[in-house]
Amino acid sequence: MKTTISAIKADIGSYPGHTRAHPETLKRAKELLENAKKNGDIVDFCVTNCGDDLELIMGHTKGTDNSDIHAIAWRIFEECTEIAKGLKLYGAGQDMLRDSFSGNVRGMGPGIAEMEFTERTGEPVLVFMMDKTEPGAFNLPIFKTFADPFNTSGLVIDPNLISGFSFEVWDIEEHKRVTLSCPDEMYYLLALIGAKSRYVIKRVFPRAKLPVDEPVAVVSTEKLSQIAHKYVGKDDPVALVRAQSGLPAVGEVLEPYSFPFLVSGWMRGSHNGPLMPVSQKYAQCTRFDGPPRALCLGFQVNEGKLVGPIDMFDDPVYDRVREDCCNIADYMRRHGPFEPHRLPLEHMEYTTLPHVLEKIKSRFSTV
Ligand code: F6R
Ligand code: MG
Ligand code: MG
Repeated sequence: MKTTISAIKADIGSYPGHTRAHPETLKRAKELLENAKKNGDIVDFCVTNCGDDLELIMGHTKGTDNSDIHAIAWRIFEECTEIAKGLKLYGAGQDMLRDSFSGNVRGMGPGIAEMEFTERTGEPVLVFMMDKTEPGAFNLPIFKTFADPFNTSGLVIDPNLISGFSFEVWDIEEHKRVTLSCPDEMYYLLALIGAKSRYVIKRVFPRAKLPVDEPVAVVSTEKLSQIAHKYVGKDDPVALVRAQSGLPAVGEVLEPYSFPFLVSGWMRGSHNGPLMPVSQKYAQCTRFDGPPRALCLGFQVNEGKLVGPIDMFDDPVYDRVREDCCNIADYMRRHGPFEPHRLPLEHMEYTTLPHVLEKIKSRFSTV
């Protein structure tokens, strides 16, 4: 029997403003998942929040894109939206972009990362959650983990890793995908995923040793603005990564976050800023609605049971990268409304900026 891990998340309202999900919504989500566990629909679960996003992590045996599992998540988000409305939370129901559920939450607003795999003797799974940024924010750390030997020493010193990994990349504008293998096609891969607002790593597969059709990493790739055709908040992605025994070690999966790399999002989803790895306590965006945060919960998976979590960035070893993030945030903020702190125009098309520009359109004359 294979195990499926599903991480499904939505911003259904927060307080104050876009800062943090409310304890009442988290409590209700836990109760509903406890019922689903009692009914045998899921094996285990963990509920948390990353900033204003309500995060549902479920272990089960029903496979990916399962309508029962998606219905459970959708119902929870619906109920929690009602709680959020009752409390007059900010942006209540923000990510609920469709009215009626039709079997799958894809394209309805929530973000989804799911993978089905054959459990190994020991199966560590890391669940990453980001707030105030977009799915392409995972390109750099996932690439480094599975393809960069300067990050992952196992790629050169472990015979089980040396054959490398395949990357399924999605063009989220043209809705196409391509699979590229590393190390041989690394330059093609980088040519695409360096443009992280358009080309996004969706899944990573092993090329040997483990079943080559079972993913070892998966990232949510929903683009809210394309579903809603207007700005409704950033996509605030989630990712699942398996580790150890023929895969990068837990520490190699976490290592990329010791570099304060820049991502798009932050205030109004319109600015570049550093991604700060934080513990659950600090997974809330305050300064200029940011800077963007990354949270990681680690589990051992046992027949679908989620043994954990360990709050992986709750460690002083990340203090220096957090301090670097503060310094970079200062530096970026001093640019005010100028690029490259503000995103380039083509990435602002779904924001409120076009309305501002519309007002002065008629005053332009030819030069
Ligand atoms: C970013 C985000 C916030 C809001 C900002 C303005 O993803 O959600 O930075 O864009 O707080 O929000 P509104 O327009 O709701 O006042
Ligand atoms: Mg919000
Ligand atoms: Mg959010």
